[in-house]
Amino acid sequence: MIWEQMLPMKWRILIFLPLLFISSDASGAFVGINIGMELTDLPSAKDVVEILKSHHVTHVRLYDADRHMLNALANTGIEVMVGVNNEELLGIGKYPAAAADWVNKNVVAYLPETNITAIAVGSEVLTTIPRVAPYLVWAMGHLHRALVATNLNFQVKVSSPHAMDIIERPFPPSTATFNPKMNTTMYLFLQFLKNTKSFFMLNAYPYYGYTTGNGIFPIDYALFKPLAPSKQIVDSNTALRYSSMFDAMVDAAYYSMEALNFSGIPVVVTESGWPSLGGSNEPDATTENAEIYVTNLIHRVLNNSGPPSQPQIPISTYIYELFNEDKRPGPLSEKNWGLFHTNGTAMYSQNLITLDMEEGNSSDGVLFCVAKQGADESALEAGLNWACGPGKASCGAIQEGQPCYQPNSLQSHASYAFNDYYQRMRSSGGTCDFGGTAMTTPMDPSHGSCIFTGSSSSHSGRVITPLTAYGPVSPTSRGLTLQNSWIAFYIPAMVFLLQLQQ
Ligand SMILES: *[C@@H]1O[C@H](CO)[C@@H](O)[C@H](O)[C@H]1NC(C)=O
Ligand SMILES: *[C@@H]1O[C@H](CO)[C@@H](O)[C@H](O)[C@H]1NC(C)=O
Ligand SMILES: *[C@@H]1O[C@H](CO)[C@@H](O)[C@H](O)[C@H]1NC(C)=O
Ligand SMILES: *[C@@H]1O[C@H](CO)[C@@H](O)[C@H](O)[C@H]1NC(C)=O
Ligand SMILES: *[C@@H]1O[C@H](CO)[C@@H](O)[C@H](O)[C@H]1NC(C)=O
Ligand SMILES: *[C@@H]1O[C@H](CO)[C@@H](O)[C@H](O)[C@H]1NC(C)=O
Repeated sequence: MIWEQMLPMKWRILIFLPLLFISSDASGAFVGINIGMELTDLPSAKDVVEILKSHHVTHVRLYDADRHMLNALANTGIEVMVGVNNEELLGIGKYPAAAADWVNKNVVAYLPETNITAIAVGSEVLTTIPRVAPYLVWAMGHLHRALVATNLNFQVKVSSPHAMDIIERPFPPSTATFNPKMNTTMYLFLQFLKNTKSFFMLNAYPYYGYTTGNGIFPIDYALFKPLAPSKQIVDSNTALRYSSMFDAMVDAAYYSMEALNFSGIPVVVTESGWPSLGGSNEPDATTENAEIYVTNLIHRVLNNSGPPSQPQIPISTYIYELFNEDKRPGPLSEKNWGLFHTNGTAMYSQNLITLDMEEGNSSDGVLFCVAKQGADESALEAGLNWACGPGKASCGAIQEGQPCYQPNSLQSHASYAFNDYYQRMRSSGGTCDFGGTAMTTPMDPSHGSCIFTGSSSSHSGRVITPLTAYGPVSPTSRGLTLQNSWIAFYIPAMVFLLQLQQ
């Protein structure tokens, strides 16, 4: 039932942007953080936990089950996902006794003081070490049975994080499928998740989707920035509009599951982030982009809505990652995903904002007021007329020939007017309602030279490459990926699945 506890409606956050974590009453979508430990000056476990606490982190994922970390996390209230690493996976997949040992040593020994709620079995196993893939679902099954034996199966969920690479062509989302060579394993995997009420773990990196996309997608799309309607990304099969690549990636996972006839398995994003520094051939790995991405990602997750095809299922997400990991191999960007220095200060400290989203209150981060998608046209029109008339909003910019005339749509003009009214009148009690057609958002709707009232950024002169193509993009995930070396295996499925039904 863990995922149901992750998904409820109410949430409250205290944000220190961009390192902002949720002080949540254990409900709603959450933002967690990955803790990679491949760094030279890794602070002590106790100091790491102090850093987590000082930033109000509520959920963490460890890549293993480090005993110092698990001890230090005791009695903190922080929920912990532990990891079976790829080297351990084979033994656990082969021998149930190895799974029982693992669970006893790494989970049972720490509960309930350390609140372990999930086991991530391997990391991107299907795409990085395909030869071990046939053992993945066996390993998950063995671990689950060990949890059943210790009566922890409702408290601790078992799943396995996948790279986007398992989805051959993620765009457009509606036609996404898992790599057909993995059908058998994916089928068993999803059957396991369904039977055990677990969730789908996805590592979703718009950074790679963008940088490997050869300019097909505008960077604003990867960074959650608003796109002019003419450049928006619409899935032509479903007519669903994708305002960010992140949403499209999550939806690609839902549609891929649907293609195998599975529904109702929630996606939790186990990794997402943006590197703040890269080599000379990695021009998009900048502090500015990292800050924008992480900030917007958090806003996106905490708005509690799902992706377009599953609007009711929020997308809880673990940001990648706590510290820069200088010991990781690979290009410079691989070592620079951290949000914090090891002394606990923020990596991008320019923009310290405190937000209390529950009350729609922001002290420095502006909330914009925009027309809701799909709002009734006549109600929108009435709202627009009211705002520009009795509401005294300044509507010059949306007149023909002015910067906010384009896109020439009711939705867009109403957004401009609603927001202008709201920014001016808010302090004297003006609300963002307009007959239920308006809503607030932390995302700045400014585009091109059309600057919304209250916007701090100057967008003037920014050119967005028009989106002409809508072709395949295969983001690669971090770390080693060995594509096309997959060999399909048949597992005596029914016997195994029957064993799990308990
Ligand atoms: C552990 O996390 C679960 C899931 O959010 C929560 O229901 C439970 O109360 C937590 N347990 C402790 C001891 O904090
Ligand atoms: C794999 O499953 C997809 C549906 O997701 C189906 O279209 C395809 O034919 C299957 N491929 C194989 C090799 O079974
Ligand atoms: C999914 O279900 C439909 C309808 O029951 C069936 O025609 C199709 O073959 C199934 N697809 C898979 C991949 O099992
Ligand atoms: C939440 O974010 C999604 C995706 O950006 C957006 O479509 C939706 O309108 C937002 N909802 C609210 C209530 O802000
Ligand atoms: C923390 O570490 C960073 C990077 O080493 C340094 O720039 C910063 O001054 C340090 N801050 C404090 C308060 O020690
Ligand atoms: C808004 O947030 C600020 C900073 O957290 C806080 O001091 C203030 O009381 C809040 N205002 C309301 C109306 O909640």
